Amino acid sequence: MTSIGRIEFKSLGKDNIGYLTPIEASEDIPFAVERIYYIYGVPADVRRGFHSHKDLKQVLICLNGSVDILCKTPYEEETVTLDKPNIGLFIGEMVWREMFNFSEGAVLMVLASRHFDENDYLRNYEQYINLAVDYFGGNK
Ligand code: TYD
Repeated sequence: MTSIGRIEFKSLGKDNIGYLTPIEASEDIPFAVERIYYIYGVPADVRRGFHSHKDLKQVLICLNGSVDILCKTPYEEETVTLDKPNIGLFIGEMVWREMFNFSEGAVLMVLASRHFDENDYLRNYEQYINLAVDYFGGNK
C-alpha cells in the first residue's frame, strides 16, 4: 500500500545483554516529530482507531507485545502486524486505520507530525471515503 511504509530501526545488542533501539528523529522519521503518545492496557477484544487524519503523518511502534493495524484508503487495504520494538509503521495523511488484537501488555507508541487537533480527525467513514476519493483521485 503506497500511503504506508515499514521502517526498520537499529537493534543494538545481543541476547545475553539485551537490546537498544535508537531513533534519530530527523534521520529515521520522515517528518519532524511534534507529539508522542502511547496506547496501552487495551483489552484483547477491543478495536480502536476508526478514523483518518486530514493532515497528519504518524509512525507507530509496538514497544511491547503485538497489535494488528488495518490501513485503508478507497483503493487499497493492508493489515500490518507490529510485534517488534525496532519496527515502525509509517502512515501518511488520509489513511483510515483500525487497531486490534492487542496482546496482553501491548504498548503502542505513536510519533506524530503535529500537535493534537480534534478538527484534523475524520471519524465518519462515509465522510472519510468521500474526501479520500478526491484526495487520492480516481474512482471509488
Ligand atoms: P483517539 O485518537 O480517538 O484514540 P484511538 O484512535 O486510539 O481510539 O483518542 C482518544 C481520546 O484521546 C480522544 O478523546 C482524543 C484524546 N487525545 C488527546 O487528547 N491527545 C492525543 O494526542 C490523542 C492521540 C488523543
